[in-house]
Amino acid sequence: MRGLTGKVGIVAGGGRGIGAATVRRLAAEGAAVVVGDIREAEAAAVAAEINNGGGRALAVALDITNEQSVADLVEKAVATYGGLDFFHANAAGGTQGDVDALNCSLDVFDQSIAINLRSHFICTQKALPVLLERGGGAMVYTSSGAAYGGAPWQVAYPVAKNGLHALMRHVAARWGKQGIRANVVAPGLVLTEAVREHLTDQYVEEGLKRVPSPRLGQPDDIAGMVTFLVSDDGQWVNGQVLSVNGGAAMRD
Ligand SMILES: NC(=O)c1ccc[n+]([C@@H]2O[C@H](COP(=O)([O-])OP(=O)(O)OC[C@H]3O[C@@H](n4cnc5c(N)ncnc54)[C@H](O)[C@@H]3O)[C@@H](O)[C@H]2O)c1
Repeated sequence: MRGLTGKVGIVAGGGRGIGAATVRRLAAEGAAVVVGDIREAEAAAVAAEINNGGGRALAVALDITNEQSVADLVEKAVATYGGLDFFHANAAGGTQGDVDALNCSLDVFDQSIAINLRSHFICTQKALPVLLERGGGAMVYTSSGAAYGGAPWQVAYPVAKNGLHALMRHVAARWGKQGIRANVVAPGLVLTEAVREHLTDQYVEEGLKRVPSPRLGQPDDIAGMVTFLVSDDGQWVNGQVLSVNGGAAMRD
């Protein structure tokens, strides 16, 4: 893809799964990538793999829910690579106990908002000033098909993910003239470690039946879209929710 050689980006939540695949793809396209994750060892392993292969990556311990930790992440990117061109906010969690609205506790709801939405607001606040300093750049937030799927069994996660769509549109509208692009990638069912940990085999089998494509998603499917969005090939894509889901939901 065009325009990624020499660019600097952050993947917040890049230690494993979709985030790690995105780090690898961005590095393969020539970007220097800062890998932030609460799973420090995983982030370090991804960065080491890239550096050993001749690419440029730096692992940073991150708690995305903590304002100072996100500020440190951005500072390290700037100190190490001289600036920032894009930020991919990908971390998620807090699904335990997230059930229907009458049975989801306020604690569980608050926790989900903290990790899945408030944290991305923090990322926006810390990344935008340095992107603006550079004369523009790209924000990409990871949402989910769950944001618009109307799941009867879970409330907090889709509420938080929908919030990301509004945050992204605000950023695109407010700073577009200053060269900032903001977009959301909304994956369908992607076979990652997290899916294997949290979803039953039966749910995954049902997911395959629902998707028109002959297979479920792989992390690289999402990495390709994120990389496109932050590249010069995506230069005129702004304020959009891009669904990458094998056709599981077909939307205008
Ligand atoms: N896998 C899917 O089917 C699927 C579907 C729709 C949306 N998504 C979204 O895609 C993204 C990646 O999903 P994944 O399946 O790779 O899951 P994942 O849970 O493995 O990825 C999230 C990453 O964030 C990190 N993380 C968690 N809490 C953190 C914190 N407090 N601070 C810093 N890092 C933290 C994790 O260690 C992990 O590396 C998530 O936003 C998820 O909601 C995934």
